[in-house]
Amino acid sequence: MSGHEIGLDDGERAVFRPAGPLTGSLVPPADKSISHRAAIIGAIADGPTLVVNYLDSDDTRSTLSAVAGLGAMVNPEPLNAMPEQFTIEGVGPTGPRSLGRIDVGNAGTLMRLLPGWLAGCDGGLWRMDGDASIRKRPVDRVAIPLREMGAEIEVTGERFPPIRIDGHRLHGITYELPVASAQVKSCVLLAGLSAEGPTTVIEPVATRDHTEVMLAAAGADIERSPGRVTINPGAQLELDEVEVPADISSAAFFIVAASIVEGSRVVIDRCGVNPTRTGIIDILRRMGADIEVEPLSDGKGEPIARITITAAPLTGTRIEGAEIPLAIDELPIIALAACFAEGETVIADAEELKAKESDRIAVVVGALAGFGANIEARDDGMRVIGTGGLRGGSVDSHGDHRIAMLGAIAGIASQEGVTVDGMDAAAVSYPNFQQDLARLQG
Ligand code: S3P
Repeated sequence: MSGHEIGLDDGERAVFRPAGPLTGSLVPPADKSISHRAAIIGAIADGPTLVVNYLDSDDTRSTLSAVAGLGAMVNPEPLNAMPEQFTIEGVGPTGPRSLGRIDVGNAGTLMRLLPGWLAGCDGGLWRMDGDASIRKRPVDRVAIPLREMGAEIEVTGERFPPIRIDGHRLHGITYELPVASAQVKSCVLLAGLSAEGPTTVIEPVATRDHTEVMLAAAGADIERSPGRVTINPGAQLELDEVEVPADISSAAFFIVAASIVEGSRVVIDRCGVNPTRTGIIDILRRMGADIEVEPLSDGKGEPIARITITAAPLTGTRIEGAEIPLAIDELPIIALAACFAEGETVIADAEELKAKESDRIAVVVGALAGFGANIEARDDGMRVIGTGGLRGGSVDSHGDHRIAMLGAIAGIASQEGVTVDGMDAAAVSYPNFQQDLARLQG
């Protein structure tokens, strides 16, 4: 079983010990990416949007506060607990209130998406900043295309937050993404909503398409073809209702846990299975995992499914190229699965891991090596020689939610357990993670 205490440092310390198979069913928390978009596109829309099952986490609360500060009315306001549903009264594409500072906390998606909206709002002035980790996350990747559209944006040290946005009328561009990033794509598309002329984003490899799906549902004039998406400005945006599915990136911790802890069988219900997010299922199945996916949706909007995972022996695999963006946030927990597999696993073409909430190449390799894994860092990923198990040890989350949860799952699957310092970081995407884990442990 696991236990936790407040450590001497600034984070919570938790101990995760092996306690046998995981069994039972679970609906993971709401999707973080889709929640951010519901708040932002709801605020841009011209009327009210009913949002059902918005994620109650630190990151998505930052987004709701930001849009409320910009003038979008959120009713009822989330106080201690997030209401099961609420409405956002949008202010329209060029209607946000000019503000001093917008605090994004730890939310990289908010930091990268919101400037796309604000940069095109003539006469507004905003300064966006966040916590210490946000100040290390590159935003030049959004400033560059926005400036090409005519935006006036200052970033710090050419690359990082805080950023200052002076709203101006923008013009459409055709932009080929230099990095496979759904955040950059989304930022440019949001800017395109109020720009003069069409805006096209070309992506060399597919990234998550929640922005496109939601904008289309809102009635935006959007054209999609493989690798290409165009926004024609001027359409009236009315989102009406968004129901946020469960987050496959949160489910991923239990998908891997149930695969590697002998005797486990876990059902994950009502989980989002947008094909731009399901890389983890394809990768684990290729490694030998026993994962059944039963579709539950009616074919409209974001697809959902019931996912059943039964523990099975795994073998190593190679993960690279177009598969990387489809599993970008799951690569840390897939690296853990690789430690429990037989043989070699290589993750390549994944330099982007260095620009996440922590340097997820260095931090994942350091953590897993500390637990006894045979693993080496590479410039674009990592190489693991699976040994069928891990000894255990201790890890600092580095304030990164996915590292905290990786440590927890490593602990329950290990021989001796894992101590995680900074477990509270999990609240960024999964506040009830420890309770859900304890429940599946019986
Ligand atoms: C996200 C896109 C990805 C992902 C992040 C959420 C999004 O980032 O890692 O957790 O919601 O668009 P990049 O766009 O930087 O790849």
